[in-house]
Amino acid sequence: MALEVLFFGAGAIGAFYGSRLALVPNTNVSVICRSNYAAVKANGFKVTSPQYGEYKWTPTRTFNSPDAARQSGVSWDYVVVTTKALPNVSDDSKLLEGLITPKTAVVLIQNGLGVEEPYAQRFSKSSILSAVTIASAAQPTNGHIEHNRWTRINIGPYYSEPTSTAARSQATEQNRVLVDLLQRGGIKDAKADTHEKLQWVRWHKIAINAAMNPSSVLSGGTASQAMSLDSELYRHLKGVMDEVLETAPKVIGTPLPSEFATSEALLRSTQKNNSGSKPSMASDWEGGKPMELEVILGNPIRLARAKGIEMPRLQTLYALLKKKEANRSEKAQKKKKESSSKL
Ligand SMILES: NC(=O)c1ccc[n+]([C@@H]2O[C@H](COP(=O)([O-])OP(=O)(O)OC[C@H]3O[C@@H](n4cnc5c(N)ncnc54)[C@H](OP(=O)(O)O)[C@@H]3O)[C@@H](O)[C@H]2O)c1
Ligand SMILES: *[C@@H]1O[C@H](CO)[C@@H](O)[C@H](O)[C@H]1NC(C)=O
Ligand SMILES: *[C@@H]1O[C@H](CO)[C@@H](O)[C@H](O)[C@H]1NC(C)=O
Ligand SMILES: *[C@@H]1O[C@H](CO)[C@@H](O)[C@H](O)[C@H]1NC(C)=O
Repeated sequence: MALEVLFFGAGAIGAFYGSRLALVPNTNVSVICRSNYAAVKANGFKVTSPQYGEYKWTPTRTFNSPDAARQSGVSWDYVVVTTKALPNVSDDSKLLEGLITPKTAVVLIQNGLGVEEPYAQRFSKSSILSAVTIASAAQPTNGHIEHNRWTRINIGPYYSEPTSTAARSQATEQNRVLVDLLQRGGIKDAKADTHEKLQWVRWHKIAINAAMNPSSVLSGGTASQAMSLDSELYRHLKGVMDEVLETAPKVIGTPLPSEFATSEALLRSTQKNNSGSKPSMASDWEGGKPMELEVILGNPIRLARAKGIEMPRLQTLYALLKKKEANRSEKAQKKKKESSSKL
């Protein structure tokens, strides 16, 4: 019997990692698409990458909705969630009901903090695996995945509540198998972590994302390197990073592991990084799409608050950006109303 893997939200990250897993013998990889469904159903994916070359990938099955996946009746070993994490827009965990059994491992490859919790609550009998990736990928046209660089992916089990030894060993084993499959698919820097370590990886990535992403949007789409070379912005970015790195130990309960880069080291490498690219949040804003504000800013703030800690720099960015986004959607709704009342 083949291993059955389902990617929910086969965009840039989902289709890239899916196409690598699909290379492993005896592994069927299916996808749930949305706006790219027609293109993928007709022609599959074309992936281009400086590291892996250009190749085509036709998923085992291509669905246009979770409902279609349910109707297939397949029993999934892994359901990998690679939608954008937008809990304020939709609770994607709800969409997966009926696809998850106690033997299914739910894998989240998403940015931000607290993305696991809705899945852990809803699918409390299944393993939840949490993944953080450092990669640069995009889907410039439907079905064409551009992998630009980096393939780092850390995956660890996520335990919401005190978990039995049996449940922990099942999750750890499913985690090990997934990392092994990714490595066999050519992702050499896939790495298995523990729950605690993976939470540190998430917080450390938030130090970068919470600093760079909102600041780029608020400064009109400035690239990361340009921000890090501006002296006032440098102070601001370092302040945000330090706020996250000083808060994380108090929330996680263990000190910052020494292998993680300090704010100075992160900013030094950004200063040398002349890719000219801007954070994804700036591209989302410019493309009129919702920003991952809740998981990058809101959840860290709330997790800290639950421990009696305020994060004033993150809170300022969060308040301003939420209002910026609300203002845009109110304007868009008004426009829609006006044009429909003219009809
Ligand atoms: N891209 C990167 O380089 C990168 C790097 C590190 C981390 N990440 C993180 O990885 C996650 C995924 O990012 P991404 O860049 O891959 O985003 P993306 O290209 O927008 O892919 C998300 C996909 O999910 C689909 N989707 C959303 N809701 C759906 C639904 N209800 N049913 C079916 N399909 C649905 C979207 O369809 P539509 O097109 O219809 O919206 C889209 O194809 C994010 O949390 C991001 O922050 C990305
Ligand atoms: C799933 O994989 C098995 C073994 O590799 C293969 O025989 C089978 O045809 C695949 N299923 C589909 C629907 O392609
Ligand atoms: C270089 O810039 C890109 C785009 O902003 C970013 O994703 C990446 O993490 C940066 N690399 C380093 C080493 O800082
Ligand atoms: C949104 O911003 C515009 C100016 O860009 C302003 O005129 C409008 O009143 C704002 N809307 C809301 C609901 O605050």
